[in-house]
Amino acid sequence: MNILDDLGQLARYLRNRLRFGRNRESLRFDLERGVQTAKWTLTYEPSPLGSLREMFDALPIDPAAYTFCDLGCGKGRVLLVAADLPFAHVIGVEVEEALYRTALRNVEPLSERIEVFWLDATQFQLPAGPLVLFLFNPFEGEVLDDILRRMPNEREIWLMYLNPLHGQLVSDAGFQAAAAGGAEPTHWVNYHRV
Ligand SMILES: C[S@@+](CC[C@H](N)C(=O)[O-])C[C@H]1O[C@@H](n2cnc3c(N)ncnc32)[C@H](O)[C@@H]1O
Repeated sequence: MNILDDLGQLARYLRNRLRFGRNRESLRFDLERGVQTAKWTLTYEPSPLGSLREMFDALPIDPAAYTFCDLGCGKGRVLLVAADLPFAHVIGVEVEEALYRTALRNVEPLSERIEVFWLDATQFQLPAGPLVLFLFNPFEGEVLDDILRRMPNEREIWLMYLNPLHGQLVSDAGFQAAAAGGAEPTHWVNYHRV
């Protein structure tokens, strides 16, 4: 990574921090659940709770028939929100050890339903059966492309994509946009592939 990448990342961090701050809803979410998902670092940014509400509300499925999986789960906020719904199973994959360990602590009381893996998402074997995948812009296009190429074709998959910078790759992989909302940088699209 060169100095321009670093500065770009810092500028995005400061802009988002100004825009969303540590808002009251975020702090209340953490306090009520005894978790710590709110603090921002340069590599981690939790999904805004309002966006998560919109995205889950727009998902026309019976969660009990699906496994939910957040690729790049950070500290596990999305896993906790998904576990409020009756998904058959909830899985998070996180590559950074410190974030993975925080996620483990955060989901510990729900460890029967939520599983977290310390892994590069490109090494993660997607579980069998119908899937709901969640991405909050965790990867560069090449990484996402690799993951999309390894997705089994015969599988029904919903892909919830917040800030879908590489939405074209998702469409190219045969997914159709089923619902969308928000405005940049919290634009989101729920894609579907049958
Ligand atoms: C923008 S944060 C989103 C966190 C969480 N999904 C949420 O929405 O609250 C992106 C996360 O993806 C993780 N990440 C980036 N590349 C990854 C990879 N190749 N495999 C797994 N996790 C990755 C980062 O460490 C970071 O925690």
